[in-house]
Amino acid sequence: MAHDHQHSTEHGHGHVHGHGNGTDIDWNEMAPLLEAQAELFGPLYEQALGWLADEVPEPGLIVDAGSGPGVLSCLFARTFPGARVVAVDGTAPLLDRARARAADQGFGDRFDTLAGELPEALEKLEQPAGLLWASRSLHHLGDQRAALTAFARRLAPGGTLAILEGGLPSRFLPRDIGIGRPGLGARLDALEEEWFARMRAELPGSVAEIEDWPALLTAAGLRHTGTRSFLLDLPAPATDRTRSYVAASLGRLRDGFGDALTAEDRDTLDRLLDPADPASVHRRPDVFVLSAHTVYTAVRPV
Ligand SMILES: C[S@@+](CC[C@H](N)C(=O)[O-])C[C@H]1O[C@@H](n2cnc3c(N)ncnc32)[C@H](O)[C@@H]1O
Repeated sequence: MAHDHQHSTEHGHGHVHGHGNGTDIDWNEMAPLLEAQAELFGPLYEQALGWLADEVPEPGLIVDAGSGPGVLSCLFARTFPGARVVAVDGTAPLLDRARARAADQGFGDRFDTLAGELPEALEKLEQPAGLLWASRSLHHLGDQRAALTAFARRLAPGGTLAILEGGLPSRFLPRDIGIGRPGLGARLDALEEEWFARMRAELPGSVAEIEDWPALLTAAGLRHTGTRSFLLDLPAPATDRTRSYVAASLGRLRDGFGDALTAEDRDTLDRLLDPADPASVHRRPDVFVLSAHTVYTAVRPV
């Protein structure tokens, strides 16, 4: 992930982050990228939600904690036609987008939003959740253990907590792309990992934690019920939408990490981003997206 204020990119674990020499993230500024990414990752989320639908047939109330602009919240509304969905986020303008999306997709009558800091905002829920989902939001909270305990408290007896964390870094290009030094993707991943560690360390109330999610879910009083990873595999030849997502992601890496790269890697990224260059991701034939996300589920004992 990157540096330079207000920049954002795809985290190595497959998600969008803001970047900065500081690690403050302007979530609102990232809305278009969050939406584009969640839409591109639609086939992966459909598989994950299909799995959850088998595990949790009638959740009643679904809470999407750290929903962002609500692409996934709306997918939950579609996958669970009998459920109400509440999207919760600390960035109110993203929730405006979520509500508009739900209305556009015909779910407005069973879709609500709740603005506020996690996990405290969940105390304002009027009823306990049958399914509480948190994708790539938990790791933005300083004390993840305490947050999981708070999430667990908002579950109905027998309710399920599902968190999406970890997985594998996204890759967009082969190891050797014919320009620059092979292995650029791995070097960018390493920079992102450093950024991520700094981001976590600088969160308010940050607590270092072994990211053993099943153990943390168990410590929160839940019974770990499953771990599954889902693949996004968009092979070459890439669609225009995929190319534009790859270009946006690499562009943010270039902006954010430019100073930390070698001159050779910087030049390579510049060529990859130059629409006039036949070697760029706008034109080259070997662009793809390959990514994996992991979902952990746990149930509150009845
Ligand atoms: C990486 S985005 C994930 C969005 C969505 N869940 C997805 O998977 O596409 C993280 C979201 O968590 C929200 N967030 C981060 N820290 C938060 C906090 N302390 N309280 C409430 N929301 C927070 C951000 O506003 C952002 O919408």
